[in-house]
Amino acid sequence: MKHNKSSEIFNEAKKYIPGGVNSPVRAFRSVGLDPIFIERGEGAKIYDVDGNEYIDYICSWGPLILGHSNEKVLEGIDEVLRRGTSYGVPTEIEVKMAKLIVEAYPSIDMVRMVNSGTEATMSALRVARGYTGRNKILKFEGCYHGHSDSLLVKSGSGTLTFGVPTSPGVPADTVKDTLVSRYNDLDAVKKIFEEQGEEIAAIIVEPVGGNMGVVPGKKAFLQGLRDICDEYGAVLIFDEVITGFRLAYGGAQEVYGVEAHMTCFGKIIGGGLPVGAYGGKKEIMDMVSPVGPVYQAGTLSGNPLAMHMGYNNLRILKDNPQIYEGIEAKAKRLEDGFRKNIHELNISAEVVRFKGMVCVFFAEGEFHSYDDVKNCDTDMYSRYFKGMLERGVLLPPAQFEGMFLSSEHTIEHIEETIKIQYDVLREL
Ligand SMILES: Cc1ncc(COP(=O)(O)O)c(C=O)c1O
Repeated sequence: MKHNKSSEIFNEAKKYIPGGVNSPVRAFRSVGLDPIFIERGEGAKIYDVDGNEYIDYICSWGPLILGHSNEKVLEGIDEVLRRGTSYGVPTEIEVKMAKLIVEAYPSIDMVRMVNSGTEATMSALRVARGYTGRNKILKFEGCYHGHSDSLLVKSGSGTLTFGVPTSPGVPADTVKDTLVSRYNDLDAVKKIFEEQGEEIAAIIVEPVGGNMGVVPGKKAFLQGLRDICDEYGAVLIFDEVITGFRLAYGGAQEVYGVEAHMTCFGKIIGGGLPVGAYGGKKEIMDMVSPVGPVYQAGTLSGNPLAMHMGYNNLRILKDNPQIYEGIEAKAKRLEDGFRKNIHELNISAEVVRFKGMVCVFFAEGEFHSYDDVKNCDTDMYSRYFKGMLERGVLLPPAQFEGMFLSSEHTIEHIEETIKIQYDVLREL
């Protein structure tokens, strides 16, 4: 497989864009390769500028649950575009979109649109702090909530719960109120609340960890978080930027039967255009300006193009619940096929699947927290990624990311992927 044109564009890109990419994971650095540049996508496939074709398991990192350039999702977008791209005054589609989200999530009375998942979590935390009048927040190691300052933290050494910045440019003072705990470890959270519960505004959590591979939250853990928040008057924020409208139409909250006080969205609700949203109970959302005192705004928030694509996406998902069953069945087949390959070839790896989310960890054991996944063999993942890419399967270019499936992945794509994986694993 040749990547000449991609290499050419990448060399040019590096001159003008840091690392040649507009988001670090696209650089393929953690698998030691140069990125491929994409020309177009169709269904479950994408095509690079060198004419290579791939079965795509990135799917734009989640938004494309209905595949690339899906005619039904695109319906009407030309007309919306021609009418005008942005007004800075309200449009009706924003209301229709908000209503759809509120109807899908019983825990949400009101929702505010923003432009990315990062903005959604950052804003939700500000609202939670305004609502409770408290400063501290609690997050979990291995969960990613976007790149706002107070969330770019990892846990301090040993048993310390305060976070330390993971990036230069984030002042230690900014993260001093961010506590970090272990995912799926309710006792650790209880202990933190016993000591500092009255000062904690919110817990933010990915109900299924999707940024440390795939690490499902245990139901008792998530319910326990809700109970602790209720007991101490803190706000439980589910970051459903990945899981929202992906695990089920009602997201992780429907699947687990655990309700958050606030929920963050992104990805699927924009159908591939830039979007984010946060919502929750009315009394919390009433804190948001212009009704309440907590300031939050956005020039392009609720953009008519993004709303149109998102609305189409959600309507299709709502009207076709079998899409979720289909994706889960295909994910299950991938899981079984991958597991069989790994077993037959005696590879040190495990497959984790939750609903339609799948990940191959190059390590053995069980995966319940970041501690469990961090020692995976990332060199092996790199070789695996490269082998799959060369044979026409585009996986996430990092061990600690899950695979994304769409309604457009057929059982033939899945069987082909399993077969290719066998050949690649055999040569590792
Ligand atoms: C769970 C989660 N939250 C928040 C974000 C940030 O979203 P965005 O990249 O749109 O800012 C991401 C991005 O991958 C995510 O996976």
